[in-house]
Amino acid sequence: MTSTETEISHVKIFDTTLRDGEQAPGFSMDGGQKLRMARALSDLGVDIIEAGFAIASPGDFEAVQTIAREITDTTICSLARCNSSDIHAAGDAITPAKKSRIHVFIATSPLHREYKLKMSKDEVLERAIKSIGHALEYTDDVEFSAEDAIRTERDYLKIICEAAIAAGARTINIPDTVGYTTPEEITDLFRFLTTEIAGANKVIFSTHCHDDLGLAVANSLAAVRGGARQIECAVNGIGERAGNCALEEVAMALRTRIDFFHHDTRINSKKINMVSKMLASITGNAVARNKAIVGQNAFAHESGIHQHGMLANRETYEIMKPEDIGLEPDNLVLGKHSGRAALRHRAEKLGFTLSDNQLQSVFVDFKTLADEKREVFDADIEALILGEAIGGSGPWEIDSLYVSAGSDDSKSPEASIQLSHEDGSIKVGVQSASGPVNAVLLVLNNLTGHDLKLDSFNARSVSEGEDAMAEADIRVSTKFESYHGRGTSTDTILATARAYLDVINRIERQKKRAGDEQHKIASQH
Ligand code: KIV
Ligand code: ZN
Repeated sequence: MTSTETEISHVKIFDTTLRDGEQAPGFSMDGGQKLRMARALSDLGVDIIEAGFAIASPGDFEAVQTIAREITDTTICSLARCNSSDIHAAGDAITPAKKSRIHVFIATSPLHREYKLKMSKDEVLERAIKSIGHALEYTDDVEFSAEDAIRTERDYLKIICEAAIAAGARTINIPDTVGYTTPEEITDLFRFLTTEIAGANKVIFSTHCHDDLGLAVANSLAAVRGGARQIECAVNGIGERAGNCALEEVAMALRTRIDFFHHDTRINSKKINMVSKMLASITGNAVARNKAIVGQNAFAHESGIHQHGMLANRETYEIMKPEDIGLEPDNLVLGKHSGRAALRHRAEKLGFTLSDNQLQSVFVDFKTLADEKREVFDADIEALILGEAIGGSGPWEIDSLYVSAGSDDSKSPEASIQLSHEDGSIKVGVQSASGPVNAVLLVLNNLTGHDLKLDSFNARSVSEGEDAMAEADIRVSTKFESYHGRGTSTDTILATARAYLDVINRIERQKKRAGDEQHKIASQH
């Protein structure tokens, strides 16, 4: 067969943004945020969503359970170590799912066996077999991972994979837990596993690569060359330490070089930009400007030579089209005379499906913005939609904010703010401080009765021109927890105030939910 006649088959995408990704410092998400991401991942077309590690905390358990209940088109998976309480928690959490999976793992490398588990080869083997059996009591879709497989003796890896297959695991995952392998090495390992071990034809072999040496995507693609038919990856490449294989990169590499790999995924690439932006907004971690596929410069052609080539024929310097990942070429879009239908249409082109309620609320903000700005760009619209999706609402809202600042030694920067609460009360406060942001945050603390500490803040423009929309990301902490908040406005200080109030509102909503729950329990007794 020639390469064009070769049949294309699909590699499964196992998304671990909400588990391996979420467990990395600075990337934590609350239950509502995880559910929004899970919806977006399902729309993106991933095959499996690893929704969390159910035993890790009651919050994690609830998030996995909620996702399992709400997302019906995608397999929902929970991670579990090879012990009965982990598997029990995972099994309970995924029970509501239409399609569910339990992912059990145990370390197999000599280093992990000796220093972490203090278990012999036989003990690890026995535990793996027992745990797969236990997980099968909850679902017939069980995945087994040999943690640190890459640094495991090949003969022992063969024995444990064969035992896992015989015990009923349907997917065998071979993680490069510490990001140590190389493309040639991993192709060879997968070739060996998929051809030499008993029962290999009954299961799917999966690759899970970390990016410590910057090779996660290359190694995952090389594993596919060796016979892997599932890739574990995360949006924007988030994950432990240097992260996981980046979903958008591996999916676009397979699609763009289908002539070479002969494998594709079911990813709807037009949603890639949207999902990447959503994750960056939720976690407050923007992707690097030059990042492959989703960085701001990924499709920008700055130099004269490149622009000249592009004008003559886009293919001179472009191997993918921006439209392929959901970026629209005609960037300048709506104005103050545009209606709801135009806004919905534009949102859809950018990959967002809005409910009628969401559309209404984004439309109100859009009209205000269109009055403030001469031109409304796609990035402005994205910021409004993400703000609507992420910010939630109330109980506090900013009615007015005025700040004075400057370099006059005789005056300190001062902020005066009026807030309204959903219970109808109005509060006004004025405060001076060493800087305008500091003054704003002090007033917000005073008016709402919170005492949050600012850890970091970052404000940047999301679109072009001097009247560009600003997006502020803020990290604050209480004595017990740290939070990320986000706010947008054409005014940077107002965006920062909104980001801060976003956190305060979230804390208050959390408290209210906990109070309602207790009240419900008390009234049942
Ligand atoms: O990197 C790793 O080994 C993991 C396993 C739990 C699959 O994340
Ligand atoms: Zn991992």
